[in-house]
Order: sequence, then C-alpha cells, then structure tokens
Amino acid sequence: MSRFWSPVVHELTPYVPGEQPKLANLVKLNTNENPYGPSLRVLEALHAVVGDTLRLYPDPNADRLKQTIAGYFGLKTNQVFVGNGSDEVLAHVFQALLKHDAPILFPDITYSFYPVYCKLYGIAYQTIALTDNFEIRMMDYFRPNGGIIFPNPNAPTGCPLALSEIERLLQSNTGSVVVVDEAYIDFGGESAAPLVNLYQNLLVVHTLSKSRSLAGLRLGYALGHPDLIEALTRVKDSFNSYPLDRFAIAGGVAAMEDQDYFEATRHQVMATRQRLVKELEDMGFKVLPSAANFIFARHPAHDGATLSAKLRECSIIVRHFGKPARIAPFLRITIGTDEQCQTLVDALREILAINA
Ligand SMILES: Cc1ncc(COP(=O)(O)O)c(C=O)c1O
Repeated sequence: MSRFWSPVVHELTPYVPGEQPKLANLVKLNTNENPYGPSLRVLEALHAVVGDTLRLYPDPNADRLKQTIAGYFGLKTNQVFVGNGSDEVLAHVFQALLKHDAPILFPDITYSFYPVYCKLYGIAYQTIALTDNFEIRMMDYFRPNGGIIFPNPNAPTGCPLALSEIERLLQSNTGSVVVVDEAYIDFGGESAAPLVNLYQNLLVVHTLSKSRSLAGLRLGYALGHPDLIEALTRVKDSFNSYPLDRFAIAGGVAAMEDQDYFEATRHQVMATRQRLVKELEDMGFKVLPSAANFIFARHPAHDGATLSAKLRECSIIVRHFGKPARIAPFLRITIGTDEQCQTLVDALREILAINA
C-alpha cells in the first residue's frame, strides 16, 4: 500500500495464475498447458525471425496472422482481432464491449479472471449459479443484462455446452454482446465460430495456448462482426500498438497452418483423457464430463486439499481451488502425456491405498 497509488489500485484483487515452479522433474498438471511441444513448423518460423529485422517494430495490425486466421474460419480479415494471449483479448473485450449500465452476466463458477477485469474497469456484474450438476443452464441467462460471457467448455469444470443452447441464447438476447470464451474448444466442444456471420452481437474468443501448444508465445484472437472488432481495435490502439511481436506473428501463422500436427496432438490429448477418466473412476473418483484438456474430479472419501498436498509430496502438481466451497472437494487435473497420467494414477493408488 502506498499513498502514491491511484485509488483504483487499492481496490484491485489481481488474478492468481497457477504456479510455474522452478523445480525440474515435476509432473506439472496444474495450468492446462499442452504436454506436446509446438509444431516443428512453428519452431522453424521462430528461427527465421532471428536476425536483423528485430530492430524494426512488428506490423502493428499483425495482418498476416489475421489473414491466416480469417482464412482458417472462412471469415474476412476485419472479423478477426488478435492479442497478446486471450487474456489480453478478453481484457479489451471487457473494456470495449461489456461496460454498460446493466450488469453483465457470467457463471458463479468460471474463469476467475472475469471478476478481476470487472473490478479493473468498474463493470457491474451478476453471477448465475451453475446447476447441481455444475452445468450452465442457458435459460438462466434470459434476463436483462449489459453483456454475457462464459467459457465453452466451462473452466474449471470442463463441461461443454451444446451449440444449439448458445444459438437459443443468441436468438433471444439481441440487445447486448454474447462472448463465448472457447479457450478449450478444440478438445471436443462445438465451436460457435460458424455462427459469427449470423449474429452481429456474438464474439468468439480463442487462444493458441492450449490446442496449439503456444502458451509461452502469448497469442489469442477474437472472431466477430467488424463493428465489434473495431471496438477492440480502438481500445488496443489506445493501449499498445504492438501487442504481438515478430515471433508471435510468425509462430502464430505457422501454428494455424500446420493442421496435421494440430489434429494429431489434440486427438492424442483426448484419447489420454478418456483413459485417465476411466482409471480415476475405477478408483472411485467422480469426474465431471469434460470436453477440455483437463478434468475436474473429486473422491467421495478424500478431500481435495489433502489429495493435492499428497500429490505434491510425490512431485505431481494439480490445481486445487479452496473457494467456493462447492468446488473445494475437486481437483483440476490437466491432461498430460500418457506417461505423466500413469504416474499420477500410480501415485493416487498409493495415496488411496488401492492395490493395483
Ligand atoms: C477459460 C480461459 N480463458 C482464457 C484463458 C487465457 O489463456 P491465454 O491468455 O493463455 O490465451 C484461460 C487460461 O487458462 C482460460 O482458462
């Protein structure tokens, strides 16, 4: 605390990201990174950037990347916005599109950055409780609002929403922006991207951190009507002209172009998820249905905090949220390689004293 701080800073409760421990040899299943490295084409593209041109600023509009993403989704370049990770894209979304008189709506259990942005930008919000099955019930969002945002699949539950439900919402909610945060969509969900040309108040946000293995490069994008994209661009250009450096632009293009690698790795993650869910259920865990690269699981006889601490003693890190109380029994486990997941299963068997 300091008297030199601007008043708003006193009120902030910053987001706390999952830890990035410095220790080697950890089985790190806590921040939903991809266990597989980026495509070799990405690495080649990054190497090609090293050189004299680094003295020059990058393209402030990242046109090449926007064109690649637009082509990928069959959209026009003016329907694409790119940013330094989808967190930055989301921050601009909150400021540019979600600050109105009426409160915005999002689930009570969801990506915990949303209330942080609201605090930062002075946005009123109302949370809508997930059902007893930890699902988003779309009809609960049919009420006056200044905007609606939710992840699909939701985080940290991993539960997917049917596209027909989202379309039902879009048909009834025409007076404010609906943001679908599809950070994990490539692991089994139904993307709302094909609806972008049909609903001018729909914004779909994606990241290259998960299914494209590029969390370290910081790349995210939004798809929507040109008017929505213009609002984001105005905010971006009032904040930072060059959020994407030359590496991010080149790496992002290569990642979007390497379809084979993308398909192979996301299917590998989904196959491992299926095996891990079965192993955990055999041990008595209850696992929520997941369409993400993580699962949300609890054991009826063991509490989440204790399990997480015991796994840590075995050098395995998973994410545990102490609050709200409803999710305290759960562990959020990122899908790793088959080998990492086997290490986790073996450790849990030992902790639960189950004989193989
Ligand atoms: C639901 C959701 N949205 C957005 C993000 C942000 O991802 P990034 O900033 O790495 O693109 C995350 C990261 O974990 C997330 O879980």
